[in-house]
Formats: sequence, C-alpha cells, structure tokens
Amino acid sequence: MGSDPRRVVVVGAGSGIGAATAALFHTRGDHVLAVDIKPGDTPATEHRQVDLRDADSIGELLATIGEGWDLLAHVAGVPGTAPDSDVLRINYLGVRLMAEGMLPLLNPGGSVVAVASTAGMAWRQRLPDIEGLIDAVDASGVDAWLADAEPGYPAYNTSKEALIVYAKRLSGPAWTKYGVRVNTVSPGPVETPILTDFEQSMGKDALDMVRAAVGRHSTVDDIVPAIDFLGSPDARWINGQNIEIDGGFIASMIGGAAIRL
Ligand SMILES: NC(=O)c1ccc[n+]([C@@H]2O[C@H](COP(=O)([O-])OP(=O)(O)OC[C@H]3O[C@@H](n4cnc5c(N)ncnc54)[C@H](O)[C@@H]3O)[C@@H](O)[C@H]2O)c1
Repeated sequence: MGSDPRRVVVVGAGSGIGAATAALFHTRGDHVLAVDIKPGDTPATEHRQVDLRDADSIGELLATIGEGWDLLAHVAGVPGTAPDSDVLRINYLGVRLMAEGMLPLLNPGGSVVAVASTAGMAWRQRLPDIEGLIDAVDASGVDAWLADAEPGYPAYNTSKEALIVYAKRLSGPAWTKYGVRVNTVSPGPVETPILTDFEQSMGKDALDMVRAAVGRHSTVDDIVPAIDFLGSPDARWINGQNIEIDGGFIASMIGGAAIRL
C-alpha cells in the first residue's frame, strides 16, 4: 500500500468494524477523522459526532471538515431490530448523503468504500421493488417508499440491497466527474456487538447454519483488509464492485452443485 500518510474519514468508528478500520489507519500514521453518533474514544486524529438519520447533522459535518480527503470508509449501520425507517435512513440514505457530500471533498484518485452486507445479496431480483427507494433522496421520500413497501420483507435486507445498487450507480459518475472510485464490501456474520441483534432479527438458527457451513463467523480482522485494499491506490481500476467477504458462503449458495473433491 502507499507509504504517504493519507487522510481518511471513517463513519461508524465508535464500534466493531468501523473502530477496527479507524485503528488500522491510525496505527499506520494516517490522518483519521473518526465519526459516529456516539462520542468517540477510538484512536484517531480527530473525532466528530453525526446522526446519519438527520440530513442537517450530515450537512453540518460536511460543511466543516474541509477538503483534501483520500478515503471515505462508510461503515456505520443498524440492525433490523431498529425501527424500519431508521434502518433505511441510516443504512441507505445516510450513506448516500455522506457519499455524495464527500465527493467534492475527496482528492482525485480517492475512493468511497461502504459496508453493505450479504443480507443484500438479492439486490438483482429486488430491483423492480427497490427502484422507488433508490429514487428517494431525502427522509420523506424514504418514508413514503416504506409506507407502500412489501409487508414483512426485512428492512435491513432492503437497506443493503439499495446500498449495493446505489453504489454501483454512483460509481460511473463519481469516476468521470471526480476521479473517485465507489465500491461496497458485504460481510457475512461478523463477531461485533451488532451480532446479537442480528440473531434476534434474522434468527439464531439461520446464523448458526452459516457458521456451520464455513466453520466460524468472521472477525473484524477478516473485513478491514478488504476495506483497506479497496480504498488504496493499488485498487485503482476496481470501481462499482460489491465484494462478499463471507468465507465463501454466498458463492456456495448461488454457484450450483459443489465440485466433488
Ligand atoms: N457484524 C455483522 O455481522 C455484520 C454483517 C454484515 C454487515 N455488517 C455491517 O457492518 C457495519 C458495521 O457494523 P458492526 O458490526 O461494526 O456494528 P456495530 O454496532 O459494532 O457498529 C455500528 C456503528 O454504527 C454507529 N451508528 C449507528 N447508528 C448511527 C447513526 N444514526 N449515526 C452515526 N453512527 C451510527 C454505531 O454507534 C456504531 O458505532 C454495519 O453497516 C452493518 O450493517 C455487519
């Protein structure tokens, strides 16, 4: 990876994958702006608070951090135990507002890496359903879409599907207008504080089944190197991709019959 110190914004730096991401860059000597809804004690150069549910809060942050950044690592998210409106506002709209607001503040050659989830794996099949959500650019639009959404379909999955599609649609214009790449990573289950909420909202049996299939849940150390790489100059020609980081679980589900060894 490049040896010059870089300037990195980590959103969701207060816990879990985001805290580990901020710690990696901080340890390397990069300038890290750690952002979270909670007051921060993650090692970083500077800390700021933002509520991703609130466009004004995001706007205030973006208006005061200056330009010359190399990476937006947008990690923050909430599980399906949160109210549906919050799930969509934080996991989809909040990322969108941060990403589009950061584009003019990022250096050419910089990038956005957002954390989606394997829970968003059905994004292709769901395109007809979520077009209206991806058209929504503010909280009232998100809530209007939600009011007519398919009852019972998990808002968490929807939020990550929309994020994956949105990032793909942003990646072309971000590249041609700003020289900035946009990618997502989609972890399977990761051992972080959010995991017990996932067991509640997705079912412990389902998560245990995933663990049994690939041998263990991942740790933050399995995820952060992919964020690091996608955000680095070495990934200069990787744009608009969604990288599943799940020990191969999704591949084994969608790839057809396993090769017999
Ligand atoms: N842990 C997993 O199993 C797993 C799996 C797939 C994807 N993910 C995704 O990874 C990301 C990070 O999750 P994690 O496992 O580190 O969880 P975590 O709960 O440890 O961290 C999430 C962080 O987001 C912050 N946050 C929540 N709401 C916010 C808001 N309104 N404004 C600003 N910050 C807010 C929290 O304060 C927290 O610091 C999330 O987007 C999550 O959906 C996690």
